[in-house]
Amino acid sequence: MHIGIDFGTSYSAAATYRNGMLEIIRFGDAAQFRTAVFFPEVVPDPSDFVLTPALESEVETHVRDLRIQQRQFGTPERADDVLRRDAIRVVRRQWLEERARTSPAATLESFQHALFGDDAVDAYMEYGDGNLIESPKSMLGFRMDADVRKVIVHITTHILEHIRLTASRQLDEPVRSAVIGRPVQFRSSMGERGSEQAIELIREAAAVAGFDEISFMEEPAAAAMHYHKSLEHRQRALIVDIGGGTTDVAYAELGGGEHPQITRSWGLAKGGTDLDVNLSVHAFMPLLGNNIANVPVHYFVEAASVHNLPKQREFRRQDFRFVDEPWQSRLCNLHIPGATTRLNQEAEHTKIVLSTEPAHRSDLGFLEDGVGVDTTQSDLSEAISPFIHRLKRALGDVNDDLVELEIPASVFLTGGTSRSLAVQAAVRESFPKIDLVKGDPSLGVVSGLAVAAAELDGMPP
Ligand SMILES: Nc1ncnc2c1ncn2[C@@H]1O[C@H](COP(=O)(O)OP(=O)(O)OP(=O)(O)O)[C@@H](O)[C@H]1O
Ligand SMILES: [Mg+2]
Repeated sequence: MHIGIDFGTSYSAAATYRNGMLEIIRFGDAAQFRTAVFFPEVVPDPSDFVLTPALESEVETHVRDLRIQQRQFGTPERADDVLRRDAIRVVRRQWLEERARTSPAATLESFQHALFGDDAVDAYMEYGDGNLIESPKSMLGFRMDADVRKVIVHITTHILEHIRLTASRQLDEPVRSAVIGRPVQFRSSMGERGSEQAIELIREAAAVAGFDEISFMEEPAAAAMHYHKSLEHRQRALIVDIGGGTTDVAYAELGGGEHPQITRSWGLAKGGTDLDVNLSVHAFMPLLGNNIANVPVHYFVEAASVHNLPKQREFRRQDFRFVDEPWQSRLCNLHIPGATTRLNQEAEHTKIVLSTEPAHRSDLGFLEDGVGVDTTQSDLSEAISPFIHRLKRALGDVNDDLVELEIPASVFLTGGTSRSLAVQAAVRESFPKIDLVKGDPSLGVVSGLAVAAAELDGMPP
């Protein structure tokens, strides 16, 4: 039996058709879980490597050995800095292997004690130690070295295995095949190559997680399959899925008992997690000195970008001794493990509350006793205006392309970020003459992936 898997930046879910009925896989009491994993022990982090005097003397020994080899084998002479670089590489690799072997972090064992979803985030904030990886999907399209690649594949494997085992238990049969959703464009530092790498990594992880057969479907195409089921009459439709990491659009011919036809898709690698960074920098960071103290603004962006490991690492390395009080102490408290995650959670929560309430007070007592921030809906709109602007531009491009196609009868809107009133307004303004149909923001994609999975099992959609 095939299942559909929505491996989302913020939330993951799975579903299938059983006896002709859509069945959503339950994770505990919920229909989805936050895409976060926590490992209680510390997985060696290659960037923790520093040349201690002992390691420095190992490097020197290697350089000497390399020079001797060079003379013995008559190989062309290499400059001293090249020899030193090669020697450091060897010492660094040995250091990593040694750490993985001797620390309680021994990778496999550590992975066996993984926690998923909100439990993962809570555990990390409670213990302040160990490793929390949130939104690994956001990292798949970035340039990475071999060590980081291994860790990211491990994490993705664990999430997919968690899904596979949970589904197998609920369905009472071993699940080994899946249709996995993918954005049109992954978040990437390498353009199209980033999406290719992301797919390779997911394939690799899925195989280790026990899937014998997987295929991919673009997320807005999946949402279209779901919308298709509800349409009695054939129509052209535009599907807009605004998630945590990406915004994806598809143009399709749907409904009326015929097979759905997906004609075209567009992708923008921005989503709800960018709104959290915007809000955090705009509304929370002034409390930490943004625009007031002489701290470069990129420090604040690094602190707020919890889904970007290199940026988080940069922030952890910053030195705040030159910053005046009270900002210095607050910034130092933001250095405590778990604090940037907590600040981000508070930013996301504030964003969500402000989508229905006029104002909200965020308690930031973990930065300093009694500190908090009051924000209003207008603070939120100001903070997220760069995203809204970008979204409108992307939808404008879609509109331009529509002249070559027949005007759609409806725009079907899904994805968690489509709960934002400002985002809904931007979509409406972009397509003023087309009916807006609001789908389930959370389960549109996974329900459509289940339709695609059922089709592979021989059931027509
Ligand atoms: N009321 C709300 N207002 C604004 N944003 C919201 C609201 N509720 C949830 N969100 C946001 O929706 C996003 C999650 O949406 P969704 O579950 O569709 O993403 P995803 O599928 O995990 O991500 P992606 O598809 O981009 O990989 C999060 O950024 C979350 O903060
Ligand atoms: Mg999604």
